[in-house]
Amino acid sequence: MSQTTPVPPPPPPVTHAPPPYVAPAVDPTGPVAPPVARPVADPTAPSLWAEPASEAAEPSAPRVGGIRDDQLPGRLDVLHLSQWFNKRKVLERCSLSMEPGEVTALIGPSGCGKSTFLRALNRMHELVPGAELSGQVLLNGVDIYGVDMSPTEVRLRIGMVFQKPNPFPAMSIADNVLAGLGLSGSKTDDPEWLVEQCLRRAGLWTEVKDRLGESGMSLSGGQQQRLCIARSLAVHPDVLLMDEPCSALDPISTRVIEETIRELCHDITIVIVTHNMQQAQRVSDQCAFFLVETLGEPGRIVEHGPTERMYSNPSDPRTLDYVNGRFG
Ligand SMILES: Nc1ncnc2c1ncn2[C@@H]1O[C@H](COP(=O)(O)OP(=O)(O)OP(=O)(O)O)[C@@H](O)[C@H]1O
Ligand SMILES: [Mg+2]
Repeated sequence: MSQTTPVPPPPPPVTHAPPPYVAPAVDPTGPVAPPVARPVADPTAPSLWAEPASEAAEPSAPRVGGIRDDQLPGRLDVLHLSQWFNKRKVLERCSLSMEPGEVTALIGPSGCGKSTFLRALNRMHELVPGAELSGQVLLNGVDIYGVDMSPTEVRLRIGMVFQKPNPFPAMSIADNVLAGLGLSGSKTDDPEWLVEQCLRRAGLWTEVKDRLGESGMSLSGGQQQRLCIARSLAVHPDVLLMDEPCSALDPISTRVIEETIRELCHDITIVIVTHNMQQAQRVSDQCAFFLVETLGEPGRIVEHGPTERMYSNPSDPRTLDYVNGRFG
């Protein structure tokens, strides 16, 4: 008579607990929110605007496209921001203030979380399935993740220009500039004036004024990038985020965009990610240095401050090594 060995019961299923709450390390008095899974928006929606205009909450006042005389640059305060992808923490308690009317450069080696941080500033992070964050992002003191602002309003007030220019291929140059108005439900009485103003401010008007009806794709890479800047300007953002906007451009186009950035920053707060240390020095007023200190650990802001000091007399020796090209 054969005996059967009893089969042990299967182990209980492993549940993935949310990322643990981390005790304040820098400012124990600052506000801390536990990690919260944010709703995942439709990743197929247009990249500049996460929701179709019809589903977007109405902004508090009707928006009229164009550059207002009373436009004031926005102030962004990031408090203890941590971010995860699929429970893997990639950024640890980053705090940074981006002052009105200044250019802030985010620098650091590849993979340290610069783009992830930047995308949290206009709620692009939540478009990635499995992405989470904790902490706060305040635009002029109002939490952009709070109930008072819809993702659409956030992305209208905090525009973004990407590494690869992304004009709408089926649209003319002029229609590309105006595209944001249609998607956001904004309007203008004088579209021709608005197109000219935005193209002038983006430093592109002279080159395209006689070909406004041609496809946006007929432009060079540098011109396309300036067209995308013009498109962002049409909805008069308070803040403009730029993720390596010149990385695919030649030195002359790069210079034109840098001049555009310096012009724009009088009215619009600008946050730019760049790997080009000379560019960060040329265009930025403030600089934040991100670093993964130990492989596998999340990125952190090692230090931040006025660009001049960060390049000449930083507090951390790794900052000086990085800005002088000794690693990264
Ligand atoms: N969609 C994603 N899903 C999972 N992990 C991601 C995603 N995007 C970024 N990461 C991870 O987050 C970390 C930070 O990436 P991020 O792109 O922010 O770095 P970066 O500093 O912008 O790098 P680079 O200078 O190369 O652009 C990396 O470990 C990266 O692999
Ligand atoms: Mg990046």
